[in-house]
Amino acid sequence: MFIFDERRFGDTIEQFVSICLPVNREDFCMVAADLRWDPFDRELHVNPYAAWKRMRDEVPVYHNEEFDFYALSRFDDVLSATMDTDTFSSAHGVTIDSIGPFPVGDPAPMIMMDPPVHTSMRKLVNRTFIRGKILELEDHVRELTRGYLDTHAGAGRMDYVQDLSMRLPVMVISSLLGFPEEDHDNLRVWSDAQVHRDEGSPEVTAEGDAAHAKLFGYYADQISARRDDPRDDVVSEMMESELTLPDGTVRLLDDGELFVFIALINVAGNETVARLLGWAAMTLARFPEQRAKLAADPSLIPNAVEELLRYEAPSPVQGRYTTRDVTYHDTLIPAGSKVALVTGAAGRDEREFDDPDTFDVERQKIRHLSFGQGAHFCLGAQLARLEARVALEETLLRFPTWDVDWDAVRYVHTSSVRGPASVPIVF
Ligand code: HEM
Repeated sequence: MFIFDERRFGDTIEQFVSICLPVNREDFCMVAADLRWDPFDRELHVNPYAAWKRMRDEVPVYHNEEFDFYALSRFDDVLSATMDTDTFSSAHGVTIDSIGPFPVGDPAPMIMMDPPVHTSMRKLVNRTFIRGKILELEDHVRELTRGYLDTHAGAGRMDYVQDLSMRLPVMVISSLLGFPEEDHDNLRVWSDAQVHRDEGSPEVTAEGDAAHAKLFGYYADQISARRDDPRDDVVSEMMESELTLPDGTVRLLDDGELFVFIALINVAGNETVARLLGWAAMTLARFPEQRAKLAADPSLIPNAVEELLRYEAPSPVQGRYTTRDVTYHDTLIPAGSKVALVTGAAGRDEREFDDPDTFDVERQKIRHLSFGQGAHFCLGAQLARLEARVALEETLLRFPTWDVDWDAVRYVHTSSVRGPASVPIVF
């Protein structure tokens, strides 16, 4: 029986928490220098683009002295650093506020592993996680989406994030992992409570703490249940899959590794999709002529999803730690540095994209970095694309136009996920 032990997983959980939970660093904000990009600055979360453009143009290797990190923001630089896993390590953490001099604890989530160990784990996961499972989920995603939208259709208003985009991914991932349907509502309630913050406070609430414990206890119970009685789902398949380590050792995953994988999928897959759909509601309202094209021709929606990912990257900063000295644009980044790879800035780089600040659902050959690239390319990219496509299809079918109550829009405040927490719309 697998018992979730906070002492064993304490470090790992800290890492998860830092991936997506709000931080409040306003007290530390730098006195405005000529060019300043502070990933904890709440105003810059709303619109970082002027700062990012200046970084690309004027300081392609930006150094933030206050938090002591470097940042690469040009498309080519972000891409080459992402591919160079020998120099830019993920093993020390992947958010600027969590990266430290030592690798994260064991078991590490795969997003915080480096090759060749990461390669072994990714091979195992690819075999089980991707194989045919994702596209089978389309009907379920559609049914859930219809349910959320239809609940509000008569009222003529809803909060697109609170009422749809925060709910959908939790339910979808729970199905994918094979968690019983009767538990999905509880899982959503616990997931919501876990990230909820009282207005003006960065602290986890008491309800949040309790929900966190319930969620992790639930994952542990699900693992134990499958050890006794394997099922036809991703967790059982992973349990039975062999991991071939770089030294040739072949073994099964232990319960701790399975637990960490489940927690990662939930963190990585829920917050990001919630923000992407929130950006969709806002961006399409800002550009009604682009929205009208999608309503008239839904076959454009998959391309519109890629354009949305480029235009407003939900996960715009990937953190790395340098294992050796490296030079970009004649500027040395010493070994042992924290580096922000600003994929969100790369998506607006005019060196790569024509008119990058124009949102164009018919843009051709969109090569964005918003799902990362190379070894850590997003495991859930196919699922995220499916959820976004279906959500937009069903939304535009019901109400092809809507207005946003812009004064009521609220944002999440994290150093890695960027996007709205609340988008009230009227249709
Ligand atoms: C719009 C939605 C999403 C965005 C923008 C996004 C973005 C990303 C990015 C940028 C990375 C690379 C991180 C790095 O290089 O350090 C990544 C990795 C990852 N994503 Fe996503 N993601 C999304 C949805 C999902 C979903 C739905 C899942 C799960 C079902 C998921 C699971 C993962 C995992 C497990 C990794 C780590 C892969 C590895 O280390 O090999 N993501 N994602």
